[in-house]
Order: sequence, then structure tokens, then C-alpha cells
Amino acid sequence: MTRLPDDHPLVRGITADAPLLNQYRGTRTAAGEQQVPSRRPVWFMRQAGRSLPEYRALREGTTMLDACLDPEMAAEITLQPVRRHDVDAAIFFSDIVIPLRLAGIDVEIKPGVGPVLGSPVRTRADVEALPELDEAAFAPIAEAVQKTTAGLEALAQEQGRSAVTPLIGFAGAPFTLAAYMVEGRPSRDHLGPRAMMHGDPETWNALAAWAADVSGRFMRAQVMAGASAAQLFDSWAGSLGREDYAAHVQPHSAAAFSHVTGLGAEQGVEVPLIHFGTGTGDIIDLMRDAITEGAPQGSGARPAPGEEGSDRGAAHPVVGVDYRLNLTEAGRRVGAETPLQGNIDPALLTAPWEVLENHIRQVVASGAGAAGHVLNLGHGVPPETDPEVLTRVVSLIHDIGYEG
Ligand code: CP3
Repeated sequence: MTRLPDDHPLVRGITADAPLLNQYRGTRTAAGEQQVPSRRPVWFMRQAGRSLPEYRALREGTTMLDACLDPEMAAEITLQPVRRHDVDAAIFFSDIVIPLRLAGIDVEIKPGVGPVLGSPVRTRADVEALPELDEAAFAPIAEAVQKTTAGLEALAQEQGRSAVTPLIGFAGAPFTLAAYMVEGRPSRDHLGPRAMMHGDPETWNALAAWAADVSGRFMRAQVMAGASAAQLFDSWAGSLGREDYAAHVQPHSAAAFSHVTGLGAEQGVEVPLIHFGTGTGDIIDLMRDAITEGAPQGSGARPAPGEEGSDRGAAHPVVGVDYRLNLTEAGRRVGAETPLQGNIDPALLTAPWEVLENHIRQVVASGAGAAGHVLNLGHGVPPETDPEVLTRVVSLIHDIGYEG
């Protein structure tokens, strides 16, 4: 079992009382009561980025992936939305394809398009030629995380708050990452990887295992350097049927999670793990299980056969729900003990305020039955979003009490 460094925010306890971690822990007691946090936590996927003028100014003249690998810049961009919107989490400014770049693969992010590879990975030979990712390559990631957590601690001090805002680390899930690698660029239906998992399952398994390894290590590098939670993005898993997901993808996502499950357990802390995808209503129970199945047996997160109690809560699996699935229904599918994250429809960020406010109140109400609920969007912030609307959304959510 791996220990977190002694100066890790979770080990020092400085993020422990943060509303975000309270809800991720699923604070429902045996009596069915909830320990209520000081305010209702909210953050936004893609909160750092093009919707912020201060981001565009800082990024000018630097490519996306170069910005991610400049520790000073990555930390500053991560902090920008926390300062501006008063969100309850910082999400590390990076990208799911960073581990590919760190492994030496020719990849860039084309503005308005997304990740593009110099040469797609389509054959067994292509997969066999994939480079090893050297652990030392994560140095700029660790440095950026350390600068970010120092910045978050300083911000809490300035604002006279005792709980420091937690940083969430992340990675792309093996399917989503492999989808970009096989297609070489964004695609709608992900025909390439779906054909490969059936037509040449050995090559698929080798590719997905490679992706799980680099993504899992990327997440672990962020957690070891100071992130208090970690989220795996399987943005495109919704293009898979249940059987395909279970047979060809879930084991690889579990392998990615296995790099971070149980970290800190012997020090009495747990790192909440979140699994998010879009259009994944049919598979969210399998996505939840991928978190706990990644846990080593006997770690508490996943008891050894015969060991006391299958305490799923110990692994703190959290499911991110996109805007298509009502949270009450999501809770039925994953069980009330699983905390949920989501699911404000990003399309409504441009609707009249009354419409948006009503929608947010409905989302809050539909999440009330879950063991914990962290408000978020059902997918990322659209680049054209008015940042003032986001600030107003945060303040509305903070003002909605828990009294019912
Ligand atoms: O604020 C945050 O959420 C933090 C950082 C973050 C980025 N990408 C920064 C980014 C995170 C968590 C991601 C994850 C990511 N990257 C995903 C999973 C989440 C999702 O949206 O489904 C995916 C699929 C990618 C791959 C990727 N990177 C795409 C599809 C794009 C958009 C390309 C475009 O221009 O439309 C990117 C670029 C990207 N990643 C930007 C940011 C801030 C925009 C870069 C810019 O400023 O031009």
C-alpha cells in the first residue's frame, strides 16, 4: 500500500473539511442523516479555459500542450477560475493527451478541432512500437501541481478560510484516449476503436492496456504531488453498448484506477475517485464498479474474499452524470450510497436567467437522494459562455441551503 507524502494536503488535513470532499465521501450516516457541509459544493468541467479573458491573455502565443507543460502557467490557469468564480474545486489545467506527449508521441491540440496525432495507431506493429513512458517525464506535472496547491493554500489564508480548496487531478480513460490514438483525430462514432476491439481483440487489448498504464500513472503523479481527488474522463464511452463496455473497456478503466486506489489508506485518508462519461446512462453502474474493481484486494476499498464487509464506501467511488440522465434515475442505477456529480445542462448557460435558475433548482432536488452530490455541468463549459453567468450560478448554488 502506498503512502502519500507527509506534506500532502489530505495528510495534513487542510482540505479535509472542504465541502467538496464532504460530499464525495458520501456523508450519509447509518441513520440516514447527512453531515451537511458549510455550503453546497460546485465546480465546472473545463472551468479553466477559453471562456475566461484572463486565460486567453495568458495563453497568447503558447500552444495548448506547451502551456500544460509550463508549471508556472499551468498553475496560474488552474487558479484563475477558483479566484474568479469561488468554485469549490480546482481542476488541474492539463489535457488527457499529455501522457502521449510525455511519452514522445507526436500529438498536438488543434484549436477548434481537438487532439491530432502525427501517425494514428492502427496495427499490431503500431501498438508494439508505442514508446515506454519514463516516470521522470512527469516532473513538470508534479511541479505544476505543487505550485497550484501552494497557491490554493495562500488563497484560503488571504480569504481567512480554514478549509483549503481541493485540487482535482484527472486523466483520460483508456477507451477515450485510445479512440484518439486509433482515429488520429476527433471522430463522431469511434468506428476505428470499436472495429479493433472485435476484429483484432489482441491488438485492442494491448493498446488499451498501454493507455491505462500511462493514464493511471498520470493521475497518480498528480495525486502524489498534492491533488486531493481524481477524475477519470471517459468522454466517448457513450458510443459503446453495455456488452462491449463490460468485455473490452471496463477492465482497462479498472486498471487505470488501480494506480490511485488505496493511496493514503494506511495514513487514514482516502482519495475520492470520480468516473465520468457522456451518454453513459446505460453503463453507469459498470463505470462505478470500474473504480472499486481497480482496488487491490484487501485494501479496504476492495476487501479480500472472506474479509469483513464489502465496504464500497471506503473507496469513495463517485459517478459523474451527464446532462441526459436525471439524477434520481442515476441514483436508482448506481445505488443511493454512491455520491453523484452533475448535471446542469451546459446549453442552458445561455438561456434566460429564470430558466437556468429553475433548472439548477431541479438538479439540486433530483440529487437530494444520493449519499452526496457535487454540482457540476453535464459536460464541459462551452467556450462562448459568459463568465459572469458562471459566477452567478456558483453563488446561487452556495445560497441553496440543505434545510429542504
Ligand atoms: O478546466 C478544466 O476542466 C481543466 C482542464 C482540462 C482540459 N481538457 C483543458 C483543455 C480537462 C479536464 C480536459 C480533458 C479533456 N481533453 C477531455 C475530457 C473532457 C471532455 O471534454 O470530454 C477531452 C476529450 C480532451 C481532448 C481535448 N482537448 C479536446 C476535445 C479539446 C477541444 C479542442 C477545441 O479547441 O475545441 C481540447 C483542448 C482543451 N483542453 C482546451 C482546454 C482549456 C482548449 C484549448 C484552447 O484554449 O484552445
